[in-house]
Amino acid sequence: VKSYEQTYLDLGQKNFGTYTCPECQMSYVQGTLADDTLHTNFHRLTLEGIKYHSYQDEITLETIPEINGRVVLLVYNETRFFEKLKIKNTIEWVNLELGAVEMTEEKLKMSKAYFYVANKYDIVGFALAVRIEKAYRVIDSSSENAQNESRKVSKLQIGNDNDGSGIFCSTKPLRAACGISRLWVKRDYRRKKIATKLLDSVRKNFIYGCELKPDEVAFSQPSGDGKAFASQYTGT
Ligand code: ACO
Ligand code: ZN
Repeated sequence: VKSYEQTYLDLGQKNFGTYTCPECQMSYVQGTLADDTLHTNFHRLTLEGIKYHSYQDEITLETIPEINGRVVLLVYNETRFFEKLKIKNTIEWVNLELGAVEMTEEKLKMSKAYFYVANKYDIVGFALAVRIEKAYRVIDSSSENAQNESRKVSKLQIGNDNDGSGIFCSTKPLRAACGISRLWVKRDYRRKKIATKLLDSVRKNFIYGCELKPDEVAFSQPSGDGKAFASQYTGT
């Protein structure tokens, strides 16, 4: 997904004016194929939304019966094609709305995706959390010092790390152990604490056995809305 600016530069158009669609709010250059296509897709996805379909490996973290909804966690896994696709589709769509650049495959592999689903199928909120490695002192599980370093060690569970090679962190995580690289709530669902609920789920479930404090979550390049939310959420 390219940013709008890139599209415009690529085409080298000279006579243009930006147009803001009253229905989906997207600003784009009318009459250029790339922008029109971008808008058509964005418009449809905005009005129809992205549908969530259940997958075998999803983890339901919470159910919200009032809205026939739930919070679902998906761990990026290269081999599970559909999961990858769904995460990628959602990310691409959210990128479009945020004007953010595409994420690298390496970063995606270290990420966990949290979906807030309403009405059984509608994705109305999405958070992508990525491990910030430097925020943790990593203790080799085979090391005898591991037990001495901290009384209780918890396994740092990131991605599809099932190979048994232990990565441990102390029970006292350093600040900002988790980075939020994408956060998005559907327009008509905003200011209903959906982002708050998503972030609460991230804090509780990002690292198995360690519940992160609000100020241990870092936000990457927050937007205006994002800044307002982040400062309220982290209490900074
Ligand atoms: N302006 C001022 N304060 C805000 C705003 C805002 N736009 N949004 C949230 N807050 C503060 C308020 O104090 C709010 O509590 P209140 O409603 O009782 O006053 C509190 O944060 C909790 O807000 P939530 O209801 O949990 O937040 P919401 O579900 O509306 O989602 C979000 C916030 C994700 C920023 C949403 O506005 C959004 O998707 N915006 C467009 C995309 C975006 O900018 N995402 C963040 C990019 S940063 C990143 O991706 C790392
Ligand atoms: Zn539109």
